[in-house]
Amino acid sequence: MIKARVSAENPDANLGPYDQTRKGFSWAEEEKRYGIEHAARINIVTESVDRWAGESDARDRAALLFEQGGEVRTYSYRKLRQESCQWANLLHDYGLQPGERLFIFLPQCPETYLAMIGCARLGVIFCNLFSTSTYGEMEVRIRDARPAAILTHPDLAEQLPADAMESVRWVFLTRGPLPGALPNEVLVENRPGRMPPEFDNPLLPRRGPLYLNYTSGSTGTPKGIVHAHQDLLGMGATARYVLDLSPGTLLWTEADPAWVTGTVYGVFAPWLCGATLLVQGDPFSASNLYRTLEKHGVEVWYTTPTTIRHLVEEGEDLPGRYDFSRLRHVATVGEPLVPDLFYWGLRNLGHSLHDTWWMTETGVICLANYPSMDIKPGAMGKPVPGLEAAVLDEEGEPAPPMTMGELAIRLEWPGLMCALWGDEERYEQYFRVPGWFLTGDMVLRDDEGYYYHQGRTDDLIKVGGIKMIGPYEIEHVLYMHPAVAEAAVISKGGDPGSGKSSVKAFIVLNPSFSPSNRLSQEIRAFLRANLSREIAVRDISFIDQIPKTRSGKILRRVLRAKELGLPGGQPLNLQD
Ligand code: WT7
Repeated sequence: MIKARVSAENPDANLGPYDQTRKGFSWAEEEKRYGIEHAARINIVTESVDRWAGESDARDRAALLFEQGGEVRTYSYRKLRQESCQWANLLHDYGLQPGERLFIFLPQCPETYLAMIGCARLGVIFCNLFSTSTYGEMEVRIRDARPAAILTHPDLAEQLPADAMESVRWVFLTRGPLPGALPNEVLVENRPGRMPPEFDNPLLPRRGPLYLNYTSGSTGTPKGIVHAHQDLLGMGATARYVLDLSPGTLLWTEADPAWVTGTVYGVFAPWLCGATLLVQGDPFSASNLYRTLEKHGVEVWYTTPTTIRHLVEEGEDLPGRYDFSRLRHVATVGEPLVPDLFYWGLRNLGHSLHDTWWMTETGVICLANYPSMDIKPGAMGKPVPGLEAAVLDEEGEPAPPMTMGELAIRLEWPGLMCALWGDEERYEQYFRVPGWFLTGDMVLRDDEGYYYHQGRTDDLIKVGGIKMIGPYEIEHVLYMHPAVAEAAVISKGGDPGSGKSSVKAFIVLNPSFSPSNRLSQEIRAFLRANLSREIAVRDISFIDQIPKTRSGKILRRVLRAKELGLPGGQPLNLQD
């Protein structure tokens, strides 16, 4: 366990003293902020976009800055209200009904955002898909969710499975030329601009569906996770406390809305806080990223360890050439923020990186490091105000500190998914232990209440008879070796004699090292010296690339399947 500690970056941040704020927090108070105490019907757009668009001193504030190819399009709150109302009117005119689904399958563009808000106004469930989705991925999702309409771009039309489109009444295209091969193609282009700029948001049941998001995390087949309008309470509170947003704060959330992070903290959460959201639509490059932080004077940046890793690869002299003086808070999500990356950020960006933990199912950040709390590098921090977390053992009982168990969150909270699309049985599995939502993530908590990620339940490795460890424990040691750029550790199953798992490490080397038996031996010796005696890594393989999901999660199951010759060893069609 890491003993290092880095002092709180900003004791005056929104959260203030952790314990005190936590004690004083209540969801009822959150409802009061929006004037929706005990309301059975609400609309998230009324509380985010329209609320600021209706205030004379806020309506001209930028809600969205969309940058692409050097050009910036600015949407004030007023303009965002107007154009999203026009979208709502357009979708309404085409007969889309509350509860029906609109698939948004677009490359990065402002229409994505306008259509999402348009849907939310109407109660139409929107579902964002990565523009890199394949034909097969689209087919599975269309058959599952049966969208009434799809909004797309002619360049992506070939990814739409012609014989799975029975449910689709309209295919809306943001541009011409119309592909001419899909059912009822509608050229949208300038049409929203000709629609009435006002729309009366219906109030929708608080648990009424808002959006659907397909995720497979790093395990299992894709699941359609459904979220409700009442999530606004959790989104607003976490954006204030974890991302430290206030009215007017400039936030850059890198994530595409097809990833839940992009929908929650890259759309609604900043607008619930009256902040300004920056969207950068260009493909990734380190220099473009630094330039973006500098040019816009980004104040809060929500990113991922994968991005930081790309920056590390580009070297330490680049960041020094840019001015990040407006940047005041950086947070990451999605994978372990290993201490190496944390310290790289401290040295090169001049900021502590604040790890946060959540999942598509939880809808909002659950564990976090806060600007006003000391950081223990390698730890995911503590539960957000309003949520209670626990480490449960195999019997579903709370485990003592420093014991690995499954992370669970106390039911329930505004943010928790309201359904798994068409799969009640799998949905129930999350609630096997009464009173708790089971995350499937293995963690441990230290005696000060900080949580440490150990892997997914299915990635566990058995050592010394019955003791289980997460792959992260071994990967963490590997990262300390100078030759290792990236590492993934898997269990190849139990040895019938000892019961111990046989453990294999996959390693991507730093550019100045090349694979050799000698290096493999040296790394094994290094592991022996730094791990407890009962953990033996016998097998090491040097590879060029670690298979990952689109959101950067290591696909250990793919490595395992390949290693054992099981089905599922093809990462390409498992990506999500
Ligand atoms: C899984 C959920 C909602 C955005 C996150 C991705 C892993 C998430 C961390 C972290 C280690 C993390 C978990 C979780 N994960 N954050 N800070 N450290 N692992 O959402 O695609 O639904 O994936 O991401 O394993 O279960 P997702």
